[in-house]
Amino acid sequence: MEGPDSTEELGSPACLSALGGSAGSSRLSDPVTSAKEPTSTPEFWSDYQPGFRFAHSPVGTKGFFEEVSAYRLAVEPHIDGVVHFDQWAGKDVLEAGCGIGTDGARFASGGARYTGADFSGTALSLARRRFQLEGLDGRFLKSSLTHLPFRDCSFDLVFSHGVIHHIRDVESVVREFRRVLRAGGTALVMVYHRHSLNYHLTIQTVRRAAAGLLLLPGGPKVVAKVTHEPEEVLDGQRQLLTEHGLRYLTNGELFLSNNTDGPGNPYSRVYSRAELRALFGPGWRDQSTEVRYLNLRLYPGGSRLSESTAGRRLERTMGWHLYLRALRA
Ligand SMILES: C[S@@+](CC[C@H](N)C(=O)[O-])C[C@H]1O[C@@H](n2cnc3c(N)ncnc32)[C@H](O)[C@@H]1O
Repeated sequence: MEGPDSTEELGSPACLSALGGSAGSSRLSDPVTSAKEPTSTPEFWSDYQPGFRFAHSPVGTKGFFEEVSAYRLAVEPHIDGVVHFDQWAGKDVLEAGCGIGTDGARFASGGARYTGADFSGTALSLARRRFQLEGLDGRFLKSSLTHLPFRDCSFDLVFSHGVIHHIRDVESVVREFRRVLRAGGTALVMVYHRHSLNYHLTIQTVRRAAAGLLLLPGGPKVVAKVTHEPEEVLDGQRQLLTEHGLRYLTNGELFLSNNTDGPGNPYSRVYSRAELRALFGPGWRDQSTEVRYLNLRLYPGGSRLSESTAGRRLERTMGWHLYLRALRA
């Protein structure tokens, strides 16, 4: 396995010359992150990874990783059925935005030749630790997804779960995914779904109303009781309201960004199926989309509703996770 800051270029020169491509233009810095418009930053993601808020075991221990995986299986059980981790045995898999390696461990234990790329050093150290604890083989590289340090045609699958909707310069990311995939290779991405219950009902309506309540005396207690949101999240919301005033509630991008992955998240956007398909347009073929995960966990009885027949039906149209699978043409 590579060290935390290592970069390298991988791939087959034959494939490169056949396609007339350029060998990996590797750069760690992402020029977009220094632009005025907010986008994903490694600082935010080094403080916010799955498990940092809910796990009881110390971060980086075997117990911690077990809690993270158990939580994922309980809350997002659909991931297995979409990704089919075992199907990628013997293939070269790149996970773009691998985080702490929760899905990566599934690919690697299923027999894939796994590479994880992420720009958060903290996430990569934890991912490496997890692989070490489980005796898994994998390679991890610190990199911005807008400039991947791999040669053209290096992978059979580029998998990216819950990442590219945080990156403003998403066109560069998709261009890089295409460049590093072999012809006929698969991109499988998950982004947040615009036409979802979570977006229209929870974020746009309920969270907005609850954010206003936080300013009233006793408001935070009521909100905490009803939603079971951790206190630090509610404190963060209150701070944002104090800092931005009414603009916090009226600026769509600002409110959405701070209400998906927690307060302080620089940037999130939502996609419709058509918008995501358009992003993977020319240069891709056989695009298909799938919608999953109602994400009703904040509502009393929400989990039961999600598991009912009606809930399962609704999940396929108004779920929060929008997946796109596309082949590199
Ligand atoms: C919500 S987490 C998802 C992690 C993992 N895919 C999972 O499902 O657990 C988003 C991850 O993407 C990484 N990320 C976000 N923007 C990035 C960028 N421009 N370049 C590289 N990594 C990025 C973050 O560091 C973070 O680990």
